[in-house]
Amino acid sequence: MSNIVLIGIMGCGKSTVGKALAKALQYQFIDADDYLVDKYQMSIPDMFAISEDYFRDRESACLDDFVSKDHSVIAMGGGVIKRAENHPKLKKIGKVIYLDRPIEDIVNDVDTSGRPLLKDGAEKLYALDKERRALYEAAADVQLINDGSVEDMVAKIKDHWE
Ligand code: S3P
Repeated sequence: MSNIVLIGIMGCGKSTVGKALAKALQYQFIDADDYLVDKYQMSIPDMFAISEDYFRDRESACLDDFVSKDHSVIAMGGGVIKRAENHPKLKKIGKVIYLDRPIEDIVNDVDTSGRPLLKDGAEKLYALDKERRALYEAAADVQLINDGSVEDMVAKIKDHWE
């Protein structure tokens, strides 16, 4: 098993950092949300429109698909840690890194379109952070602060990986 699994709240940089990290390591980059959309041929907002549980069931099922991956950087959806049974599955996929980015920074540049949980505004992120922080910490092998450039973050992760 040699995969890096990125977790953290929406907008913390999982996709941006993940893509740069994958490039630096010559790994494959997988975005779990894109994978889900592709697999079920349905958008994330459409899955949520059925129910959050509908989305979460599919999100959890994808973790089983990821166990067979190798040399991949996988950016998970921000809520994957909500189900405690997903935590050991994440660790089975690879080394789990919690990208902990200051919420003020995220609120300033997060894209709320296509993120059903932020339909009432990015400020909702403060409540989500309060609700989920302990879950991210419990699910992660390593917690790293993302308050610099993408290159800094890639270097920090590589230090832990190599
Ligand atoms: C969610 C985060 C989203 C996506 C869905 C739910 C969440 O992924 O999975 O909208 O519950 O935090 P990103 O963290 O990649 O935006």
